[in-house]
Amino acid sequence: MAANVPIILNNGRTCPVIGLGTWKSKPGEVTQAVKDAIDAGYRHIDCAHVYGNEKEVGEALKTKFAEGVIKREDIFITSKLWCTFHRPDLVEGAIKTTLENLGLEYLDLYLIHWPQAFKEGDELFPMKDNKIEGSSVDYVDTWKAMETLVQKGLSKSIGVSNFNKKQLERVLAAASIKPAMQQIEVHPWLNQQPLIDFCKSHDIAITAYSPLGSPDRPFAKPGDPVLLEEAKIKTIADKYGKSVAQVLIRYAIDRGLVVIPKSVTKSRIIQNFNVFDFQLSLDDIKELSSLECKGRVCSMGDTYHPDYPFNDEY
Ligand code: A2P
Repeated sequence: MAANVPIILNNGRTCPVIGLGTWKSKPGEVTQAVKDAIDAGYRHIDCAHVYGNEKEVGEALKTKFAEGVIKREDIFITSKLWCTFHRPDLVEGAIKTTLENLGLEYLDLYLIHWPQAFKEGDELFPMKDNKIEGSSVDYVDTWKAMETLVQKGLSKSIGVSNFNKKQLERVLAAASIKPAMQQIEVHPWLNQQPLIDFCKSHDIAITAYSPLGSPDRPFAKPGDPVLLEEAKIKTIADKYGKSVAQVLIRYAIDRGLVVIPKSVTKSRIIQNFNVFDFQLSLDDIKELSSLECKGRVCSMGDTYHPDYPFNDEY
């Protein structure tokens, strides 16, 4: 179905299928981007403490509330618990900092950003001997602290991000509130079908991050292939009279996923939302999925951490 229909989470709440991504959006650009997105019809903004721009996202929300363009209940706001705040006694303070920065009283969705816990303290990336320094906190204990945030009304829903199957199974076994969402990298070069199937079998919704391959990722190397320039996707896009970015966004939506393309460019923000007048055929979805090449673009690099999620097959 091409219509803009929100997905229903396992707790009965709804989540708009397109959210504006804000990873890599500079503080000086993100306020305008969020305003442009809301004016274009976006009702979902994806944020995180570690992006370093939640205050500036909050400024845009404040303006749009004051202008009467949206009310709080009209918009779905996600944020994420950073790895240095996994210790259960730090979780509530972390969401309160995010809420203060965003100027909100509650989040719609709060995710454990990564399964790995980092050494607690002021540094977001605590380093020792040129490596990120871990902490021994178990993400299952972090999950139990996340559950209290729902009970306290600080977040309507909770979930995880970048968890592998085994890690999700451990959370599910201990949970009294099941994760409503798992946010992972998904695009044709990393189609994630096994992990998506696993999440669907447990009624956990999926948000696809880096749907456009994140060409602006800070760790991109010269000569890295660029998803938005993939010839086979261009051929499909031409057939529909749409851009490659629009086909990549539809690739997520037509597989039943939520998708969070990032842009700070008004014309692209509008273009990325203008995807509700077409839908991909099953054959085209299959063809896009056949481009799978384990082409992950986002990883923390801390492969030595005991909870590094991407050493398992999925
Ligand atoms: P910009 O923010 O300068 O407009 P992802 O969502 O996978 O992380 O990708 C974000 C990157 O893709 C950013 O560099 C963003 O650029 C770019 N981008 C976003 N939308 C489009 C589009 N419709 N066409 C081309 N590039 C886009």
